Amino acid sequence: MELKPILFFSALLILITSFVASEVRKDQFGEFKYDDFDKPGKCKTCHNAFYQQWKQSMMSKAYTHHWDEIEYFQLAVAHSENDPEMAKVHEGCNGCHTPMAWLSGDVPPPKPEEGSRANESVSCEVCHLIKGINGDTAFNFNYIMTSGDTKYSSRKGETDSPEHKIVRSKLHSSAKFCGICHNEKSTFGAWVKSTQLEWEEGPYSKEGVQCQDCHMTEANSRTARMGVKYPDAKLHLFHGAHDPGKLNGVIELRVQPDVNETVPGGVAVFTVALFNQKTGHKFPTGSVEDRIVWLHVEAEDEKGNIYHLKVDKKEFEGEEYTIASNELAYQDMGVPLQKPDFKGVKREDVPVGDRIFRMPYFDPQGRMTLMQWNTKSLGVDYRIGPRETKLETFTFNLPYEVAPGKLKVTAVLNYRLLVKPVGEFLNVPEEEYAIHEINRHSTEITVLP
Ligand code: HEC
Ligand code: HEC
Ligand code: HEC
Ligand code: HEC
Ligand code: HEC
Repeated sequence: MELKPILFFSALLILITSFVASEVRKDQFGEFKYDDFDKPGKCKTCHNAFYQQWKQSMMSKAYTHHWDEIEYFQLAVAHSENDPEMAKVHEGCNGCHTPMAWLSGDVPPPKPEEGSRANESVSCEVCHLIKGINGDTAFNFNYIMTSGDTKYSSRKGETDSPEHKIVRSKLHSSAKFCGICHNEKSTFGAWVKSTQLEWEEGPYSKEGVQCQDCHMTEANSRTARMGVKYPDAKLHLFHGAHDPGKLNGVIELRVQPDVNETVPGGVAVFTVALFNQKTGHKFPTGSVEDRIVWLHVEAEDEKGNIYHLKVDKKEFEGEEYTIASNELAYQDMGVPLQKPDFKGVKREDVPVGDRIFRMPYFDPQGRMTLMQWNTKSLGVDYRIGPRETKLETFTFNLPYEVAPGKLKVTAVLNYRLLVKPVGEFLNVPEEEYAIHEINRHSTEITVLP
């Protein structure tokens, strides 16, 4: 045989295998043992401050957190058992939520209450034993994992550690490192998480502001007990949507009228400007299928009567998913739950006519889904980009019985981590769907007698 066809075919084979591997990773699965990794408690003896910060963050709870446990066992594991197309889907979850379990082939891991090492979730070792990524784009846990006493990090500091070797890794100071787990492609190839890709498209990447600058902020501190003080020690805060303080004021609101006076039976148009001043990616980002952000506008007349204002339609494609309605959705949960006639639950359960900032995910049948692994396509992306300002208008046809005097109009932006009807249906603790007010602003006009 000539050399050329061999080269051609082996190139083709490499292409095919690398493509498959990048979609559903198999290499390194079961290649390690839990014992190859140290427990966070060991790192704590010298890195106590970082340990305490990490312990409070979602990173240390990625496997044990109640909603994760419910979605993993009741929906993902169950789905992989009763739909052959989904047979491996529950393995992928562990690749990001408890990488040591995936690397040890312990899938599905014991339930959190059994106290296994899978509970360590995204631990110190997971991040500091990553020496690179497979391919160019970071997604679907395509880390190259090592084990042993060489830790990878961005600094080769002034102090040597008595405990381990330190190797400088530029990857650790870049957003790409975070993209390993914060970008995710579904079984059907849809980008169901794209935080790092959103960041890359936005203004912050161009200014060199990394994820670390907002989620691992720099302070003048020691990084280890016997170490020195650095002016830019990287705190392990990892605070995100589960931190009310991080959410507060993410979006700034201003509402203005088009007229200063009107009469009962008259018309006034209110414009709300929503400015994303805090996030480096879109808002919401990450688990976009779960999160819900909505704008509620009310007018109150001099006598205390309240009128709910509905958002004016803009007539873009897919807009129906961005205006609250009484539709039902999430029927595909019926498959893992073995309820073939499941009618779904309310799509959002927020006041009908309010504007929702979201991107809907659709299952293979074209129905809205919250099971991100079962997502075949994405709908209109009506989220608020980094430093973007969106304008929404509300036309108010004043009723004849409105009281003369001051008319106060208030715009409120509300947020829930999880759509309420889904939380209630799956018995998720209420804190996951409690309303968090992001911001509010009011204006006044006069109703002439
Ligand atoms: C300019 C500051 C800034 C930068 C840069 C930034 N973020 Fe954020 N991030 C925020 C703020 C503020 C929030 C809280 C609001 C929210 O949930 O989006 C947040 C939220 C998050 C959340 C929680 C989302 C959720 O709904 O659970 C994750 C995860 C996250 N960021 C990861 C990243 C990653 C990964 C990068 C880099 C690719 C990054 N962030 C860059 C400010 C930033
Ligand atoms: C016996 C003490 C000790 C223990 C235990 C220890 N370290 Fe360290 N580590 C140090 C010291 C000292 C430094 C250097 C600090 C400095 O530069 O001032 C360090 C630095 C680091 C760095 C930063 C490298 C750099 O300079 O950017 C990382 C990452 C790290 N350790 C990870 C770990 C992890 C993960 C564990 C647990 C598996 C661990 N360490 C356990 C003492 C320790
Ligand atoms: C989600 C990944 C992740 C986890 C989990 C994590 N780290 Fe880090 N750590 C990083 C990254 C990324 C950096 C470098 C940040 C940078 O350069 O901007 C870092 C830096 C460090 C440093 C050096 C700080 C400095 O300023 O040079 C130490 C020490 C460290 N980590 C120890 C730990 C310990 C101990 C734990 C567990 C309690 C831990 N890390 C958990 C990602 C992680
Ligand atoms: C090995 C995978 C992995 C890597 C690498 C990783 N993360 Fe995460 N991160 C997760 C998982 C899984 C969660 C979700 C925890 C949960 O279940 O809510 C998470 C949660 C978070 C949250 C909290 C979100 C919330 O809802 O409050 C922030 C913020 C965050 N990560 C930022 C980062 C940043 C910044 C980096 C890079 C320095 C990074 N992550 C790297 C896996 C990872
Ligand atoms: C490519 C990595 C990756 C894979 C694969 C993955 N996740 Fe996640 N998951 C994350 C990250 C990162 C977050 C948190 C970031 C965010 O919400 O912005 C998260 C968030 C979640 C949340 C929301 C947590 C909360 O507190 O609101 C649930 C539930 C969840 N994942 C379950 C699953 C299940 C079940 C699977 C498997 C079918 C899975 N994940 C697969 C990375 C991943």
